[in-house]
Amino acid sequence: MKLADLLKSKREIRKVTIDEKKALREGEKIGHEVWDIYYEKVRDYNVSFSETLSFFEFNSFRDILAQRKLNNLTTNILDLMGGDGSFLRDLQSTGRRHKILDSGLCITLVDERKEKLKAKDEENNIEVECGDITSKKTWRTIDRWQENNGVKNFDLVVCRGVGGLETNIIPESTYPYIFSRVWERLSDKNGLFVSQLHSMANEETILKLLSKVAGAKFHFQRSRSGFTEFDGIKNRLPALGIVKTL
Ligand SMILES: C[S@@+](CC[C@H](N)C(=O)[O-])C[C@H]1O[C@@H](n2cnc3c(N)ncnc32)[C@H](O)[C@@H]1O
Repeated sequence: MKLADLLKSKREIRKVTIDEKKALREGEKIGHEVWDIYYEKVRDYNVSFSETLSFFEFNSFRDILAQRKLNNLTTNILDLMGGDGSFLRDLQSTGRRHKILDSGLCITLVDERKEKLKAKDEENNIEVECGDITSKKTWRTIDRWQENNGVKNFDLVVCRGVGGLETNIIPESTYPYIFSRVWERLSDKNGLFVSQLHSMANEETILKLLSKVAGAKFHFQRSRSGFTEFDGIKNRLPALGIVKTL
C-alpha cells in the first residue's frame, strides 16, 4: 500500500466517520449529506451484481443461500461497508419457516442502531461492528467475532460500498490487502466474494491481481450495468466476483 495514499485515505475516513455519525444521530436520511446510498436492500444488491450473479448461475443473493441450505451447507455472510446491516436483515426476512442466514456480520464506519433493533438483530444472528476495512484492527475484530460465534469461514462476502469506494477513501493500492484478508476467511466450499470497485477500476489490473490466486474462478463485471438509481444519479460501478474451491 502506498504511504501517501494511505495517509490521505485515513484522513478522509476520519472525516466521513464524523459526518456519518452526525447525520445518523440527527436522524436524517443519510443520503444527501454523506452517502448517496444507504439502508439499501437485497433487491438493490441483486441489481448491482446482476451480471456477476448470473455468471455464477445464481438469480439472486437469496438463491445462493437457498441452494446452500438445500445442500446442507452453512450460510455465514460478511457484508463489508454494509451501512446499518439492512442487506443482512432483509435477507434473513426472506427465509420462510427457517432462518436462511446462519449468521451475518456487517462492517461499517458508524453504528447508530437503536437498542430495540440491536436486540432484534441479535435474535436473527446479525451483528454490526465498526471499523475501517483497510485497517488491521478491523480484521482482528472480524477474527474475534468469528471465534466467538464459531464461524470458521464466510460463505459469502459482499462489498457494496458505492460512494465509499471513491479512491480518496479506498485507494486501488489497498485492494490487494483487502482481497487477501477476504480470501483467507472465505469458505473453500464454493465461498463467493462479490465486490463493487471504484468507477475507474481497470479490468486488466484487477484480473492480473486475481490470476495469482490458485483455486479461484473469477468474473469482472464492467460498469455498463449493475447501476442503482438515486435521485436521478446512476451509479454504474464495476464489480468483481470470485469463487473459492478446493
Ligand atoms: C454508500 S454507503 C453503502 C451502504 C450499503 N452497502 C448499501 O448499499 O446501502 C457506504 C458505507 O460504507 C461504509 N464505509 C466507508 N468507508 C469505509 C471503510 N473504509 N471501512 C468500512 N466501512 C466503510 C460507510 O460507513 C457506509 O456505511
